[in-house]
Amino acid sequence: MRLARRVEALVPSITLEVAARAKELVSAGRDILSLTLGEPDFATPAHIRTAASQAIERGANRYTPVCGIAELRAAAAADLSAVHGVTIRPEEVMVSTGAKQCLFNALQSLLDDGDEVLLPTPTWPSHAELVRLAGGVAVLCPSTADSGFAIDVELLRRKITPRTRLLMLSSPSNPTGTVIAEATLRQVVELLHDHPQLLVMTDDLYRRLVYAPGRFVSLLALDKALWGRVVLIDGVSKSYAMTGWRIGFCAAPRPLIAAMDKLQGQVTTNAAAVSQHAALAALLGDQAPTAQMVAEFDARRRIMLAALNAIPMVSCVEPLGAFYCFPDVSAYLGGKAPDDVELSRYLLEEASVAVVPGSGFFAPGYLRLSYAASVPLIVEGVRRLAAGLAAVAAAS
Ligand SMILES: Cc1ncc(COP(=O)(O)O)c(C=O)c1O
Repeated sequence: MRLARRVEALVPSITLEVAARAKELVSAGRDILSLTLGEPDFATPAHIRTAASQAIERGANRYTPVCGIAELRAAAAADLSAVHGVTIRPEEVMVSTGAKQCLFNALQSLLDDGDEVLLPTPTWPSHAELVRLAGGVAVLCPSTADSGFAIDVELLRRKITPRTRLLMLSSPSNPTGTVIAEATLRQVVELLHDHPQLLVMTDDLYRRLVYAPGRFVSLLALDKALWGRVVLIDGVSKSYAMTGWRIGFCAAPRPLIAAMDKLQGQVTTNAAAVSQHAALAALLGDQAPTAQMVAEFDARRRIMLAALNAIPMVSCVEPLGAFYCFPDVSAYLGGKAPDDVELSRYLLEEASVAVVPGSGFFAPGYLRLSYAASVPLIVEGVRRLAAGLAAVAAAS
């Protein structure tokens, strides 16, 4: 069968590939330990589940407005206004099926063929794939561990061309856990002043999962006048253990919301009605479960980071947000494992631990480990990693 070029050109997710192979090995009876999970390993808080059950009983079985139920748009607008220090009206918020659909809607509605998007890396692969799917060109702007993966704003400046339409930021970052520092954001503000044609999209999905001394800083809060050029991507998936409920929010100027309304109206109509009521309870209800989750992630983060940095020739920048560590394992490459993709295969097959290669995030030489796993799993997983690396070194 001949398939459309735009789908043929999509790069499959390495994370899913590793996870699928790990499952195969488990089915074959192997004891595989996976540190690949990109979602909290907690249950959705009880009050959110109750709100969803009540919504079902009340009969939330119909289509909703395309942009979402009014109460949820209002609650998200209030929450985002408080975080970003500007007045965001409910009409400037759209509810979609996960932050992923928000990104899809926004990029499809903004980009024409050949429009360039500045994309600081390492980053989540879907950022680049969704840009390409919309006909855009993802212009990768690498950063390294030496700077703690700080965005190189001078590099962004050099990569701007007459076709540059958009800058994409994501803080905290998947995969590095880096939280963009205020000083860096101030440089970004300057860049935006110098290039008034540029729009900026911020994927803030992990903003509630931040650990001291990290602090989420909003670009908009630094310069309120940027509202009108900023597209905010947000949602409940990661901070309320709601990945499967599929609710995300996009806040943007009205013309973009209207375009996305038109687009989504032809694609999925509305995000699931019951999930919207659950997300409403998440935003308006008790925030203590999220605080507990953050405390638990913080404890696990310290354990994983210390264990990784104790492995000879491995170094890991301290992640201050999200739930990933991103160690540099380049010293182990060559011989048995010429690159990080081969290394992660070797670790899975020979050391029974599943981790994601950094190449999947445009950062060869690194591995991504998720600490959305219990402490015993983290300890045993990193022990297997260390043993696998030692075996690779001995065999090379
Ligand atoms: C940076 C980032 N943005 C967006 C998403 C997608 O979020 P959602 O599950 O709400 O679609 C993910 C999921 O891994 C992510 O890591």
